Amino acid sequence: MKNHWETRLKQVAKDYEQNKSVFLRTKSISKSMHPNIDQLAQRYWNVIQKDDEFLSAAKSLSKESYGSPLRFSKHPDISPVTVQHLFHIKEMSDKFGFFVPDSEINHVTDVGGGYGNTCRLFFELGFTGKYVIADFPEVNAIQEDFLTHHKIKAYYEDNIKNKGLVPDKESKSLLLGTFSINEMPLSERKHLEEIYREFDYLCIVHNLVFDDIDNVKYFADLKKELSDEYDVQHYKDPHKGQGSYFFIGKRK
Ligand SMILES: C[S@@+](CC[C@H](N)C(=O)[O-])C[C@H]1O[C@@H](n2cnc3c(N)ncnc32)[C@H](O)[C@@H]1O
Repeated sequence: MKNHWETRLKQVAKDYEQNKSVFLRTKSISKSMHPNIDQLAQRYWNVIQKDDEFLSAAKSLSKESYGSPLRFSKHPDISPVTVQHLFHIKEMSDKFGFFVPDSEINHVTDVGGGYGNTCRLFFELGFTGKYVIADFPEVNAIQEDFLTHHKIKAYYEDNIKNKGLVPDKESKSLLLGTFSINEMPLSERKHLEEIYREFDYLCIVHNLVFDDIDNVKYFADLKKELSDEYDVQHYKDPHKGQGSYFFIGKRK
């Protein structure tokens, strides 16, 4: 049986090719990468507003227009998904104890990077290192167009098995996987299980169940597996009604 992404990929590629100027409004891409989550974004925004550093970071972002993004009701220059991505960056920054985009971290591997928006935010917020996005080739093509438009040079890997995901030994590295690893079959996740220990920092955001896989158990087991070498915090996002979890790890 085909998994969720194998089924969806063809439609994503077709919607993108036929509607480049408004690709974020197409059904398949909006549903999977740019959903209308205004109410959730308002809850995240309330948290962001209480943090001066993040509020000014949010306000410093460029006005979004490429691909016809949705407009966040409280701050229409940015989209609801950007608020969610900012919240992910805030959550890991709080847990690591520093503002992640502008920090000692100089290598990011973003597994399943959507249309490249988190990468854009990293660079707009001060990142100057190497940013690798691992995804399907069809989605890499969308990311590359989006990031090139924003004058951002990223590195693209079209398979999570590729060696290019692994950081150089000298770098300070972060593996990021927001709502992506939780959408992979277990056979694909095995390849990532082999490389987690190459990274200094880990930030995964996951939902509860996907394609019949119990993600809460899967990531609780991963925490146990890595706990000899990493301090991992695995907890429910209190702002998200239908349930999602953060898995944030730091080498001891
Ligand atoms: C729901 S989107 C999340 C996008 C983004 N990380 C975010 O938080 O908005 C899932 C992403 O994971 C990618 N993905 C899913 N399965 C994958 C696989 N087996 N290998 C590589 N990328 C995959 C999808 O193409 C997509 O970019």
